[in-house]
Amino acid sequence: MSVDISSLSLEDKVKLLAGIGCFGAGCSRRVPGAAGETRTVGGLPAIVMTDGPSGIRVEPNPFRRWPATAFPVPTMLASTWNPELVEAVGRAMGEEARDYGIDVFLAPGMNIHRHPLCGRNFEYFSEDPLLTGKIAAAYIRGVQSVGVGATAKHFVANDQETNRHVIDTIVDERALREIYLKPFEIVVKEARPWAIMSSYNKLNGKYTSQNPWLLTKVLREEWGFDGVVMSDWGAGDNPIEQVKAGNDLIMPGGDNVVSRLMDAVKRGELSEDEVNRSAARVIELVKRSLTYKGHKPSNTPNLSEHAKVAYEAAAEGIVLLKNARETLPLRPGTRVALFGTGQVETMRGGLGSGHTHPNHFINILDGLRGSELKVDEELSSIYVNYVKERRGEDYLCALYYEEAYAEPLQQDILTEGQVGEFARRNDVAIIVISRTSGEGWDRKAVKGDYYLTDSERRLIEMVSRQFHALGKGVVAILNIPAPIEVATWRDLVDAILLVWLPGQEAGRVIADALVGKVNPSGKLPTTFPRDWSDVPAAKSAECYPGVPQDNPRAVRYCEGIYVGYRYYDKYNVEPAYEFGFGLSYTRFEYRNLTVAKSEDIVKVSFDVVNVGKYPGKEVAQVYVKAPQGTVDKPIQELKAFRKTRLLNPGEAERIELTINVKDLASFNASRGLWIVDAGEYEVRVGSSSRDIHLTGRFTVDKTIEFKP
Ligand code: BGC
Repeated sequence: MSVDISSLSLEDKVKLLAGIGCFGAGCSRRVPGAAGETRTVGGLPAIVMTDGPSGIRVEPNPFRRWPATAFPVPTMLASTWNPELVEAVGRAMGEEARDYGIDVFLAPGMNIHRHPLCGRNFEYFSEDPLLTGKIAAAYIRGVQSVGVGATAKHFVANDQETNRHVIDTIVDERALREIYLKPFEIVVKEARPWAIMSSYNKLNGKYTSQNPWLLTKVLREEWGFDGVVMSDWGAGDNPIEQVKAGNDLIMPGGDNVVSRLMDAVKRGELSEDEVNRSAARVIELVKRSLTYKGHKPSNTPNLSEHAKVAYEAAAEGIVLLKNARETLPLRPGTRVALFGTGQVETMRGGLGSGHTHPNHFINILDGLRGSELKVDEELSSIYVNYVKERRGEDYLCALYYEEAYAEPLQQDILTEGQVGEFARRNDVAIIVISRTSGEGWDRKAVKGDYYLTDSERRLIEMVSRQFHALGKGVVAILNIPAPIEVATWRDLVDAILLVWLPGQEAGRVIADALVGKVNPSGKLPTTFPRDWSDVPAAKSAECYPGVPQDNPRAVRYCEGIYVGYRYYDKYNVEPAYEFGFGLSYTRFEYRNLTVAKSEDIVKVSFDVVNVGKYPGKEVAQVYVKAPQGTVDKPIQELKAFRKTRLLNPGEAERIELTINVKDLASFNASRGLWIVDAGEYEVRVGSSSRDIHLTGRFTVDKTIEFKP
């Protein structure tokens, strides 16, 4: 039977606008651990949704598990700067969803890293809208290529967790359009997600899920979005306003939502046309689903194949932040003294709806044990026993535990004498620093979170003292969800490997990067500031929601468009590691830049040459500096990027990139127009935002103005 809007009763159509109505995981009747489900109505089957975004998250119960690959967190995916690779990750996630009977994946998360402390930053990609948009578009294309819908979330300005259900984000229209809306605009136009999830917060006084300007004018009329908007779970305070605004599906929904909507229709507060408009979109979504098409889930996803994809993604997302005197890579057979409890309780992902339940997980210690390095077992056993004692026996054997331990353990477990002994009998020290973060709480600018604990600092100082006294190197591994403070202690170590939260293959990939089987090629998608006080959002309590006890009702995005490197560049604030930064074991040179402009596009071409000793990949970044015009301009903005193929020593690749002239526009809020100012533009090609190798120029003869 063909179902369409005309074949359904008014009541059935209203039922389509609200999910079946339990809260959080354990909701779906068909896949009991999924996050939500629509209703079976008039011949339409229910469709099932689940989280995202580090892999498929279906909550296990005592009778059944839905093991799924734990991929590196999205910030690490963005660190690869490799859309093709991220598309493969998306495809693998889509296949696992398909194989478990899930129709719509509640991912990717695409909010902006406005500052380092948002508890869900790991679920998001970057501080830059272009990088976020391009990586998210690749992710969505991958998921949807197998017939599963992707959901771009959380729309919009949901860049903090504190008081997330009620907080009012106050942001000016220019910043909103250039920074926060831009990534969503890119994915709507380039990847056509089946769904968008509106966020919990208010935007300039109105809940996003109840905001017709956002959900209808901007999203549909300006950008042409033709899919479903669903609410975040329990968002907003008025389902009638939600439907009127264009929030088609209220999640998790429930019978009470359906009755409120029905009453509103009876009272004439919600028109049948408004119901039809949203119901028609939900019907379309159901009809696109695999369930509607009769697909039978195999329940046997190809986890071994996807483990390889997770490995590849982590391998390209590792960022080498420091490598003095070529401390890395380590030679096979190197005797390694491994310090820090993070070698045992390595954090593979973050907490909340974005966590995962994989079949296996390799921590750093086991990864190194399986490599050509010789781990000092006596030292590591001290850590294994210590973690067992503190966290419980189960902690080590549980294959699918939630990483529920946010507080790092105390690290004062060795004496100076013991460390001296380990220094004598090993060749190198590796110190693991671990953190995690999660949904519902922001990180804090305190010791043990953004800053090292006193015991971590003492450990680094002691190891550095003892190993350096014998002329031996010290390597730090940062196993963290988002930036921490490094500027005050990085001089104590010789090399720093940033491995983020790398997913289930963690230890294996990290070991391979340490020995050079993997040559790090990740670049920072987000700035590491020297200190929290340097972050523009930290300037006043009004601009940062602070700690939950403050119970803030609003957060003002005081810095406007000057987020991340746009701020550090403009106000001459030296970061610890800038946006786009990342070293390699080899070296690259940039040569032969040509810049050619036609009416609508600018073509930028150049060679990247591997002039070092190891095969490697480079992420070439193109920034553009605009002339001053009708509005204040950032010093430069990322406008294009490309990761090279694996280049052998001596090999070169010609990179050819295209920039649309319209994408050079700034938003003039007082005139309500995008404007590309006439004048001379500088093209800056580099291996980070502050390591520019080549510059060129082009001119825009006449100012171009266009409506959003
Ligand atoms: C989160 C969403 C998630 C949803 C369903 C909410 O609390 O904010 O990101 O998709 O729960 O689990």
